Amino acid sequence: MELRELIANAGDEHELWAKTINPQFVRVLRTIGFDRKWVRGEGAHIYDADGNSYLDLLGGFGMYNVGRNNRNVRAALIEALELDTPGMLAMGVTALPGLLANELLQRTPPRIERCLFTNSGTEANEAAIKLGRAATKRTRVISADHGFHGLTLGSLSANGNGEFTRRFQPLLPDFDQVPFGDLDALEQELRREDVAVFIVEPIQGKGINLPPSGYLPGVQELCRRYGTLFCVDEVMTGFGRTGTMFAFEHWGLEPDLVTVAKSLSGGYVPVGALLMARAVHEAVFDSMPHALSHGSTFAPNELAMVAGLAMLHELDEHDLVVRSARLGEKLLELTRPLADEFDVVKDVRGKGLMWAIEFEGDSRMYRMLDRAQRGLFAQLVVVPLFTEHRILTQVAGHDMAVVRILPPFVLTDDDLADFAGALRDTVKQARRMPSSLTKFALSAAGIR
Ligand SMILES: Cc1ncc(COP(=O)(O)O)c(C=O)c1O
Repeated sequence: MELRELIANAGDEHELWAKTINPQFVRVLRTIGFDRKWVRGEGAHIYDADGNSYLDLLGGFGMYNVGRNNRNVRAALIEALELDTPGMLAMGVTALPGLLANELLQRTPPRIERCLFTNSGTEANEAAIKLGRAATKRTRVISADHGFHGLTLGSLSANGNGEFTRRFQPLLPDFDQVPFGDLDALEQELRREDVAVFIVEPIQGKGINLPPSGYLPGVQELCRRYGTLFCVDEVMTGFGRTGTMFAFEHWGLEPDLVTVAKSLSGGYVPVGALLMARAVHEAVFDSMPHALSHGSTFAPNELAMVAGLAMLHELDEHDLVVRSARLGEKLLELTRPLADEFDVVKDVRGKGLMWAIEFEGDSRMYRMLDRAQRGLFAQLVVVPLFTEHRILTQVAGHDMAVVRILPPFVLTDDDLADFAGALRDTVKQARRMPSSLTKFALSAAGIR
């Protein structure tokens, strides 16, 4: 097979996707003008077939922390392929998974002593829910409103966003949500002493919601008091995204369960992991007949393990976690003034390189847009940022006027300054809503 030739002769990939994979997604891309022919990625940039460079502030939803096509992760993968290792043994073990598990466990609190690999973030959360229930011999699972933990049935049952759950009822029984940030509501549920797991993102990805101070330590305290396992979903926030290796470090937390994925393989190979207290693991894997109580054929696959080891090495070698913290501070410095400058900017917030800007307005134009689709104003920022400034961002969730970014940590100070300048121009222009945008906005509302 000649790969280059195959790709070169594939024809229009949007047509191909529309025919074979997902025509509605292709419609969305076409409507918002994101249907470029992409040919290359490097660091914090992607390139189209006309040779244009785009600043990628979305990083594949936050999976390219060490940059797209990171040279050292790639080199490790090539070396691994050339080693002709035995691969997956099924009934046998090799060193690579143990090495990566060790590296991960060295970076978590001493309480966390075991690692179970998965193929994705949602699978890591499925494992947390399943093992957490078995270990506590309880059935209930509580999560937070607006929480997002993946889209397979168990994780979806913990999802706090109606637009993802509504059409897939009934979900699993014994799942309930409480407001994010509300300790009293959580205590009301936990005091029944039938809750196996409370699962929460330390900073919510949908909307980029930061917890009130004291909330997460309070959650931990309540979980300990009522015998509930405290699960921190670090799928998006892990590996330096918020300026510390894991977001739970900001509050000195010691959770029982930690789930990771996304950036773990540097964006190359699907992978995830559930990192857990030994007691949880031992309660489930408690005998030889139970030695394979949970797992998956491809987890832990060797390429994912190699990529994971190389990604962690990259983070350390180039101090990328510190870089994420520094650039995050700089980004807030550059963009917070927008809230004073423009009435329509309600808030600018973030931690490390997890950042968002939220809009609100009461002008006629703003209200008309909101009637067509809640939060539509945010699209008037995302689309021109892309089409006019070649900067890739995203609306942070359904029905919200929030734009978020999750860029690779290798972006530069100049990239951030360019973004801040482009954002200012775009917000200024969107407030005036030129007629070309009116047309776009209404058709964008129509695609939902
Ligand atoms: C916090 C969080 N948990 C879980 C997931 C699901 O991960 P995956 O898409 O790998 O299943 C995501 C994905 O965006 C996420 O942001």
